[in-house]
Amino acid sequence: MREPLTSSAAYRALQQHSLEFQNRSLRAMFAADADRFTKFSLEGAGLFLDFSKNLVEQQTLALLLALARETPVEQLRAAMFAGEKINLTERRAVLHTALRAPRNASLELDGREIVQDVHAVLDRMAAFSDKIRSGAWRGYDGQEITDIVNIGIGGSFLGPKMSCEALRTFAHPRLRMHFVSNVDGHDLDATLSQVKPATTLFVVASKMFNTSETMANAHSARNWFLQHADESALPKHFVAVSTNLQAVQAFGIAPENMFPFWDWVGGRYSVWSAIGLSLALSIGMEGFRAFLAGARAMDEHFRDAPLEKNLPVMLALIGIWNRNFLGTASVSIAPYHQDLRDFPGYLQQLEMESNGKRVTRDGQPVDAATCPVIWGDVGTNGQHAYFQLLHQGTDVTPVDFIAALKPNHALRGHHALLLANCFAQSEALMRGKNADEVKHDMQAQGLTDDEIAHLLPHRIFPGNRPSNTILMDALTPETLGALIALYEHKVFVQGAIWNINSFDQWGVELGKVLAKTIASELTQQPNPAAHDSSTNGLIARAKAAM
Ligand code: F6P
Repeated sequence: MREPLTSSAAYRALQQHSLEFQNRSLRAMFAADADRFTKFSLEGAGLFLDFSKNLVEQQTLALLLALARETPVEQLRAAMFAGEKINLTERRAVLHTALRAPRNASLELDGREIVQDVHAVLDRMAAFSDKIRSGAWRGYDGQEITDIVNIGIGGSFLGPKMSCEALRTFAHPRLRMHFVSNVDGHDLDATLSQVKPATTLFVVASKMFNTSETMANAHSARNWFLQHADESALPKHFVAVSTNLQAVQAFGIAPENMFPFWDWVGGRYSVWSAIGLSLALSIGMEGFRAFLAGARAMDEHFRDAPLEKNLPVMLALIGIWNRNFLGTASVSIAPYHQDLRDFPGYLQQLEMESNGKRVTRDGQPVDAATCPVIWGDVGTNGQHAYFQLLHQGTDVTPVDFIAALKPNHALRGHHALLLANCFAQSEALMRGKNADEVKHDMQAQGLTDDEIAHLLPHRIFPGNRPSNTILMDALTPETLGALIALYEHKVFVQGAIWNINSFDQWGVELGKVLAKTIASELTQQPNPAAHDSSTNGLIARAKAAM
């Protein structure tokens, strides 16, 4: 059993070190060192990470790296890449990295060569997406497919949707992408009102193929379809992505219309598998392979670069420093790219479902804070909503700014404005504005002494608020792949340091079970003895309205 995190020598040294930061000023640290940007930034796999606007100095990094070495980050990393069953509670390997391995790579799992399996499915996805995109695949009345409806939730939704939106400028012009996830019928209803059965392809995406939301939506979509066409038309309009062949067949989808993947792919790490079929349909298989290649470049960087030059490691360590030693409770994700608007939501599942845990891999309580709350929205929209709190609220919230240096549009002037806002926000968070500066500005504006005294406290910015900035040349399949893999590996490193299993999700089970009971009570007999008065009261009110 590993020793409690907080007893480790590196952790205690960091705690001691953090006391020195109670009165440290980032502004002063920049003023004292003209090379700070160079010293605290890294490049790899097509991404650039500036972490200089964090309250860290060289000694902080040295201690954080000692923590990474003392906790078994490197051993676990090797175990993950080698296919060891590091997902202890589910007794599974964690091999999303194998999904982006090149065709000539080799990896054996339980006596089976899995890279070949991966490429066999990729080849099937290529053949299928070529047919849909070229128009060779026709619907039941001979028309080309114009609309793809991905039915899935969690990892079978967030990754494909986020990536399709991120790469919309690479999309096939005929194919409109739709994503239905919520069991709330308004979701499916809104999509069905936009599509025609004869020209729609439904992709039912579910690792287990028993997820209640997805099954409810898939059955309703099929019923809707069968109001317009007969059963023999189903194979032209319904395909499945799953690990569960039996359940797919029971639903009525034949094996040749199913794209498989494997239990060693976690739901939130599955966009690289056949779960990415919607993305492959949208951007084409060449684009999808480039997306995989971008992630592979990050895998290689993560596996091979020394810890101190390793982007995911450094992003993770900065996060650990802010969370465990400076006491911050959330991280705001600010993509300055409209097409990355779903990226914060994607990271919510990736980070919080992975590391929102309270016991160690050995089943002991974790003795330090684990995953912070992840939230955010695109810049510049967030600036006009919650950035007030980031600048002047009582909590310090580190921000990850993400931007592309070149836009994927040709509109003049916008991109410089966008980047100016992105860089200005991190500068403002870091520098702040002190009383003298505020006073000076107000005097220059001709305000009276009384007005200045009245306004001064409201207009001060404390500054010293940490942020990272991640830059890419342009948002492309490669850079998106690298960006997602960067965060996947960041999550891995943090999980390794906190000593938690980042690859299970028992916390979603209880609500699922209770929902099943309550669903039957809403349609049949209530069972008040099973619930508290609040739940009974709510059930009664819902039944009265039905
Ligand atoms: O929310 C729990 C979860 O198991 C996620 O991890 C997963 O991505 C999602 O449900 C959907 O599961 P499935 O792909 O099996 O339908």
